Amino acid sequence: MTQTQTQTQTQTQTQPRTQSQPRTVRTRTPRARHYLMCRPTHFDVTYAINPWMDPSKPVDAGLAVAQWEQLRALHQELGHTVELIEPLPDCPDMVYAANGATIVDGKVLGVRFRNAERAAEGPAYLEWFRANGYQEVHDPVHVNEGEGDFLVTRSRLLAGTGFRSTPESHAEAQEFFGRPVISLELVDPRFYHLDTALAVLDGDEIMYYPEAFSAGSRAVLERLFPDAVRVTEGDAAVFALNVVSDGYHVILPEAATGVAEQLRARGFRPIGLDLSELLKGGGSAKCCTLEIRPRPAGA
Ligand code: ARG
Repeated sequence: MTQTQTQTQTQTQTQPRTQSQPRTVRTRTPRARHYLMCRPTHFDVTYAINPWMDPSKPVDAGLAVAQWEQLRALHQELGHTVELIEPLPDCPDMVYAANGATIVDGKVLGVRFRNAERAAEGPAYLEWFRANGYQEVHDPVHVNEGEGDFLVTRSRLLAGTGFRSTPESHAEAQEFFGRPVISLELVDPRFYHLDTALAVLDGDEIMYYPEAFSAGSRAVLERLFPDAVRVTEGDAAVFALNVVSDGYHVILPEAATGVAEQLRARGFRPIGLDLSELLKGGGSAKCCTLEIRPRPAGA
């Protein structure tokens, strides 16, 4: 399957109707994607820069690689292209490729990490894009942690701040991409990156955990996305929002059973994976997957 082809799959199951469920389950169309990933060859938890990381807890390095391989294989089975960046030995968090850049319309916004422990990853990802022929590449001035804090909807960029990326980086991204940026304030340290608290499912359809956001940001989300899937704290705490969606298949942690049910009711096909080792660094499927969005055809 090429990147521009699509496959159509229809889900025909009937659902009991409750207030939050639409009468007919929507037909979903997956679209082939282009991803960049980084094998967790050097993955470990040797420092703590988020509340999930505990350097005294052992990490099973072999299991981390096996779980990551499962994720990569699944992307490929679903028809997506996966490219790989070489892991750096001194960068145990480099497996979280979503933090490597933000790519929209073939334009690459590089990253600048808040924490010194991850600083070397920024130039490595930028170099990968330059070496692979991307011409519109911007080396950022302000701290932004890539798709950890920038999520792309049909027409906008949703941008997280509060723990990692700065509000200044939101303005920088708006200027570079020429897309309206919606700044959202994260307030719970467990949900330190936007992609731990909110996920784009398809186009302008999102799901999120409301309590992860400030009151004002919650009001913005309600105004912009009245039909969003709202996720419980229990599901959010097992990284249920750290998902990769191709418009139909939604890869998520297997423990996120409540969200899986909510997604099925909307016509998506949730696929659960066990990524326990990668969770020890504070990440899951989405953190390990950076989407490369091509320039629109004819542009
Ligand atoms: N240990 C990494 C950090 O704290 C985890 C990053 C997870 N990535 C993500 N896209 N949320 O920076």
